[in-house]
Amino acid sequence: MQQYATLNASKANFDNIYDQPDPRGYFSVLGALDYMIPDVAEPIIRQILRAREKRTGVAPTVLDVGCSYGINAAVHRLPLSFRRLRLRYANPDMAAVEPEELARLDRNYYGSWPHTGSARFIGLDISAPAVRYAVSVGLLDAGVIANFERGAPRPEDRRTLSGADVVLSTGCVGYVTERTFAAVLDSLERPPWVVSFVLRMFPYDAIAATLAERGLVTEKLAGATFVQRRFRDLTEFGNCLATLEKLGIDTTGLEAEGRFQAELFVSRPREDVAAAPLGKLVTVVSGRNRTVGTRYVRVGRGTEAQVLRVPS
Ligand SMILES: C[S@@+](CC[C@H](N)C(=O)[O-])C[C@H]1O[C@@H](n2cnc3c(N)ncnc32)[C@H](O)[C@@H]1O
Repeated sequence: MQQYATLNASKANFDNIYDQPDPRGYFSVLGALDYMIPDVAEPIIRQILRAREKRTGVAPTVLDVGCSYGINAAVHRLPLSFRRLRLRYANPDMAAVEPEELARLDRNYYGSWPHTGSARFIGLDISAPAVRYAVSVGLLDAGVIANFERGAPRPEDRRTLSGADVVLSTGCVGYVTERTFAAVLDSLERPPWVVSFVLRMFPYDAIAATLAERGLVTEKLAGATFVQRRFRDLTEFGNCLATLEKLGIDTTGLEAEGRFQAELFVSRPREDVAAAPLGKLVTVVSGRNRTVGTRYVRVGRGTEAQVLRVPS
């Protein structure tokens, strides 16, 4: 979509950190801008995956579009966050480690946490090193390295994608358009749920129309936005505000406060939407990361439940 190319010109370019052999550059550059969309999306994604599992009776397979180094898989499947991973990769002693050695350490690291999610993850990204890394450290079960903006999926790509139940993306719409969604949807065996966190500067209409042609109804979560990151500098801030205002979007209290804001779009078969509209499926909790003192947490359910005291 030509429109996305024009809109992208107002955003800073980070292409050089997307295709490094490991995620150190990604976490240090985006972490320094308080990139947080995987963390703020995570509780919402968890609720949606649980709802999908309840509806079908099967633990879903998630296809993460623009999966990069497998971060959404890490924060869903393991008790980790972008913030915590950033500290790991920013540790000065990590800077001297060779990429192959880091991959070995990371296989152990990711393998050392209990699983907290039920979904399995596969990924799609244009970046070969990022996808290979995510698969090699065990975050993704499988990965597709491809650019469906430029070409159709190969038979082996279709085979890998075919079992996905949920198509997820954070920070990727804008790089990908309806072309990628069409290619993905046409590779699937079953009608998926499509969950997209999308910066407000990228209109979602063309993607929603492509999904509608394939039988999915799109809802936008009303009354909630999700912070993606801070603007990098004054130039990006000024350009993005101008772009949003040209689109007729009021930035007061949102981007005008210095942070990119994403919205949540979820597309599902009509009967699933009729059974539970999006507003009933998800609850957004504000301030969940602001408490600093000790708190009580209940883990597990029913007779298995335990109450734990979590220190600050
Ligand atoms: C801002 S990063 C988001 C990564 C991850 N989802 C997250 O939120 O941390 C954007 C990702 O989109 C990927 N990307 C760019 N163009 C793409 C395309 N045509 N198809 C698939 N992925 C693409 C980049 O390589 C990069 O990994």
